[in-house]
Formats: sequence, C-alpha cells, structure tokens
Amino acid sequence: MYEKGKTWLDKAFVVNDWYLSAYGPLHDIENRAIGILYVGILEKKYTRILRNTAFYYFIIIAVTTVVAILLSIYIVNSVTRPAQRLILASREIIHGNYKKITIESQDEMGYLSKVFNNMVDAILERDNQLKERTEKQIVKSARLASLGRLASGIAHEINNPLTGILTYSSLLLEDLKGTDYGEDIQIIVNEALRCRKIVKGILDFARETKLEKEMAQINDVIRSSLGMLEKLANFQNVQITLDLADDIPLISLDTTQMKSVVNHLAVNAADAMPGGGTLKIMTRCDREKNRVVVEVSDTGVGISEENLGRVMDPFFTTKEIGKGTGLGLAMTYGIVNRHNGTIDIRSKVGEGTTFTITLPLS
Ligand SMILES: Nc1ncnc2c1ncn2[C@@H]1O[C@H](COP(=O)(O)OP(=O)(O)O)[C@@H](O)[C@H]1O
Ligand SMILES: [Mg+2]
Repeated sequence: MYEKGKTWLDKAFVVNDWYLSAYGPLHDIENRAIGILYVGILEKKYTRILRNTAFYYFIIIAVTTVVAILLSIYIVNSVTRPAQRLILASREIIHGNYKKITIESQDEMGYLSKVFNNMVDAILERDNQLKERTEKQIVKSARLASLGRLASGIAHEINNPLTGILTYSSLLLEDLKGTDYGEDIQIIVNEALRCRKIVKGILDFARETKLEKEMAQINDVIRSSLGMLEKLANFQNVQITLDLADDIPLISLDTTQMKSVVNHLAVNAADAMPGGGTLKIMTRCDREKNRVVVEVSDTGVGISEENLGRVMDPFFTTKEIGKGTGLGLAMTYGIVNRHNGTIDIRSKVGEGTTFTITLPLS
C-alpha cells in the first residue's frame, strides 16, 4: 500500500492509544535506508479541540437564527402590519369610507399614521365643503331656472301687445311729427322701446334667444366692447387694466352677446366705483381643464354676503329706480350658460368684486 522509502502519514494505534503519526525513512550518505524516524502526537487532544470548535459553531448558528427570527417578528410588527393597515384604510377612503387608524408607536410609522389621519380630516372637510357648495349651486340653478320660466312667460305675453304699441305709435309719430302731439307720442315710442329692451333682457336670461356662434378671439371681443365704454361718463375716473393672454385659441362665441356680457360687467364695475378705481380684465387659457378663463375685477364697494346669492336674479338691483333694471347680471348668467360656461363671483365689501367666467375650449 505504501511505497518503500516514502514518508507515511496516518493515525496509528501505538501501545494503548491512537496517535497522529508519521514514519519517515532515514538515509545514509549513499542514500541507503538505514532506519526509520517515527513522530506521533496523541490524537485525543485534537479530537477535543475539534469537538469544541463544532460546539461553538453550533451555538453561534443557533444564536444568529434566534436573533434573525426575533428581528423578522419585530419588522413584521412594526413595519409590515402598520403598512398593511394603512393600505386597507386607503382602500376604504377610495370607497368613501373615511376611516382613521391608530398606531401607538413613537417611530416613523406612528408619525405616518398621524399624517394619514390629518389627511383623512382634510379630505373629509374638503368633501363636505364641496358637497355644500354643490348643493347651494344646484339650489341656485334651480331657482334661476324657475325664475327664468316665469319671467319668459311674462315676457312673451308682453311682447305681443308691445309690438302693437310700438308699431302704431311709430306710425302716429310719422303723421303727427311737428304737431302738439308729436312730443307726447315720441315719449310713448321711447318708453315702449325701453320696455322692449327689458323684454329682450328677460329672454336673454331665460335662454330664449338663439346664439349665433362663430369662431372668435375672446381678447378681441373684450377690446372692442371696452373701446365703446371708455368714452362713457362713469368711466372718467376708472383706470382700465388689461392682462390678456396671447395663447388663447379661437373659441365658439356669439360675439354680439359676449360683448354685452363684458359690457354689463364693466358698467357694473364702474357703477361700483363712483369715486374712481381700477377695472382689471384678465384672460388665460386653462388647457388642463380645457377652458378659457376671463376675470373681471374692480376695486369698488363690493357686494354684501347677503346679496351675493341674489345679484343674478332678474330685477335684483340696489341701484335707484330708473338707474338699474337688475337685468345685467341675469342676462350675463343666461348668455354664459348658453355658451356652456360658468360664472362665479367673489367679493369683499369695501375691497372689490371679481367675476370669473369660464368658457369651454372648442
Ligand atoms: N361689480 C360690482 N360691484 C358691486 N356690486 C355689484 C357689482 N356688479 C353687480 N353688483 C350688484 O348687483 C346688482 C345687480 O346687478 P345687475 O344685474 O347688473 O343690475 P343693475 O346693474 O341694473 O342693478 C347691482 O344692483 C349691484 O348691487
Ligand atoms: Mg348692471
């Protein structure tokens, strides 16, 4: 098994115990084997070291495993479970179920749960505000719609006799111009024309007049109607500022009606600033919401909270008899509505008023 003349390494049973041993040949100067050298160390010592090492290894592995298990339990309890609860609560919120969560820990998860609960509160509050506003808006639209039906019924009934009065008084005026009756009949004609304007206003509000739409530039509409107004007496002390965006595309508009909207708002603004002030008109394109926004603001007397909900009602006016008909904003509402737009008012007494009109991009 072992070659002659080579070293032999292995365990060997010597006398009464096992030894780790080596037998090596001894040579003389002529390289002849003359003997054997034996070295042996008792094996028992090494077996003990081996056993101890294995034992320590086992202990280290066991401790590490226990630590790892405890760590996983801790992570599951402090991160995974709370995260799962957050996810579940978020899902509930999607379904309109505003549930809060309580995580008592002082760590990031505890902080996250606090932030989450604050968010729930904020969403709830906004939701309620939105609901309230929508309800108010619905009530207002319903009231304006029923007012519109009533007013348009009356307007239609008045329209026929009024046409008769206008036709015959105009004919009479032609015959009697220059006579004693001429002036009186002129008054009849003028007053009948004023009535017709009011009737037209009501029909505008009640959405009974047809729109003649064309693709037009809202900025041009604003400039052209202001051009006519600036010369009026009540615009003497009013400074007009325009901030018109130049990226607004053409939109589908009835330019005549839209000019009268700008007209009504500007005249109201001037009326609200008897001592002078600033009328600012701003336009911008809100591509995200697919609409054009027009803002008309003044630095006038403002509208009281109480009147804010009524200013668009037909015949609501705070102006003296003969000065205001209370139809300007009603007509404005009707016209904007027929353009599928919206109109919104913000006002503070003593500070001023802002009307915001939105019109859909075509
Ligand atoms: N820019 C404004 N600032 C303050 N009040 C306003 C403004 N615009 C409208 N109002 C109020 O709304 C009322 C109704 O306006 P409107 O329908 O145009 O009728 P009128 O101008 O004939 O009174 C006004 O009488 C006024 O009290
Ligand atoms: Mg007016």
